Amino acid sequence: MSLTLLKAWTSARDRLKAVGLDSPVIDARLLVEAASGASRLELITDPHRALTDEQAAVLEGYLARRERREPVARILGRKGFWKIALGLSPSVLVPRPDTETVVQVALEAFEEHRHFSVLDLGVGSGAILLAILAERPNARGLGVDVSDDALAVARENAANLGLQGRAALLRGDWTAGLEGETFDLVVSNPPYIATAVIETLEPEVRDHEPRLALDGGADGLDAYRILAPEVLRMLKPGGIFVVEIGFDQSKAVEALFREAGGAEVRTVKDLANRDRVVTGAKNPLEN
Ligand SMILES: C[S@@+](CC[C@H](N)C(=O)[O-])C[C@H]1O[C@@H](n2cnc3c(N)ncnc32)[C@H](O)[C@@H]1O
Repeated sequence: MSLTLLKAWTSARDRLKAVGLDSPVIDARLLVEAASGASRLELITDPHRALTDEQAAVLEGYLARRERREPVARILGRKGFWKIALGLSPSVLVPRPDTETVVQVALEAFEEHRHFSVLDLGVGSGAILLAILAERPNARGLGVDVSDDALAVARENAANLGLQGRAALLRGDWTAGLEGETFDLVVSNPPYIATAVIETLEPEVRDHEPRLALDGGADGLDAYRILAPEVLRMLKPGGIFVVEIGFDQSKAVEALFREAGGAEVRTVKDLANRDRVVTGAKNPLEN
């Protein structure tokens, strides 16, 4: 008997439920849509449409991966972030809704038609940089990452969004080699999970996200210790920084940026009301 869209969805849901996933209905729907090429609407309006043998085999492969706790975004190789769609590879972090707080704080500081420059340190898939450039037509940016593979993904995403002319992407160890350049805005979502905590995280993160994107050293703060003075050095006088933090890192990260000379340093919460972003400015009277 052929596998219909409805049967595929319900049996996928049951399999994913059986392995204890949090959102088996949504995950099953996304995987059936991707394997069959059917839209969400077609799943409801044409539930008895049959999958081809090839589509059923693709779905089987997706489900086996999801049962091994590979995130849906990794299986599909794409993820929506802010208002853009991003391609992914195993070398980049799956962009998180939490990180949209960085974009929101940055956009609030730079109105729509302003000309400004952005530096994104640890650009990964390009999520933060490209979301900002997509909304600010007169902005230009530079994204830096230590991973060549991540940069290849960011380049492809920039091209797919038509932003390649305004987004430069460079391999580098944070700000090394950027002497002499300054920016109006510096953003970063650095690795900030304490090394020992990584092993306690859900398998989707622990086993499927690149360590380079997660590991913030013994207390999770290694990257901020390097970045706080470097971010301030890279800013123009009066420029603004916006960095993502772990929910319990506000005090420590604020202190690092104040010690480095940051002004108006404050923490912004995410939609779940957890501390998520530290932002501030470079004193306009400093060089
Ligand atoms: C948490 S991920 C953030 C990725 C992306 N900005 C986002 O928000 O989805 C951190 C990124 O920092 C990069 N990274 C780690 N160490 C680095 C270093 N020393 N210099 C530059 N980038 C680094 C990783 O390769 C990774 O892409």
